[in-house]
Amino acid sequence: MAIIDNPKYTERINQHLAKYETKRSAVMPLLYIAQEEYGWVNQAGINEVAALLNLDPTQVKSIAGFYTMYSEKPKGQYWLQVCTDLPCALKGADEFHAWLKEELGVQEGGTTEDGMFTVEHVMCLAACDKAPMLQCNFRYVEDLDQDKMLALLAKWRAEAGHSMNGRGQ
Ligand code: FES
Repeated sequence: MAIIDNPKYTERINQHLAKYETKRSAVMPLLYIAQEEYGWVNQAGINEVAALLNLDPTQVKSIAGFYTMYSEKPKGQYWLQVCTDLPCALKGADEFHAWLKEELGVQEGGTTEDGMFTVEHVMCLAACDKAPMLQCNFRYVEDLDQDKMLALLAKWRAEAGHSMNGRGQ
């Protein structure tokens, strides 16, 4: 279902459109909605945002391609972005990032075979005093170590299993 036709997004879309003097200024929040719907910024999402804002899809695609918070390829259910910028690296972020990839059996930017987790490194997320840290689907998780991360992975796996059971009922 197109985002404009999905009642789940109607209020948010209208709020964003009302917030700006020119419709095109709403392109970034609408791209977030498209990413939320499809799991990444795919061509369908780009076309829908372009149509909503009377823009050319190429213009929308170029904006999505410029910013790292928009993904141009499918991601796992949990998108784990580990900060490895210098202040975090000084507190062990590189080792933590390498361990996490090995633990999940993925390369940089890769997704686990079950589609659960994508791991990639990012630049400073402005939580340097909480390293190692990452954002999971844009929510910060801080002061990490291997034990804490293993517990979180187990929790997220359990939650995903729970929600899949819920959908099937
Ligand atoms: S360097 Fe990692 S949050 Fe700032």
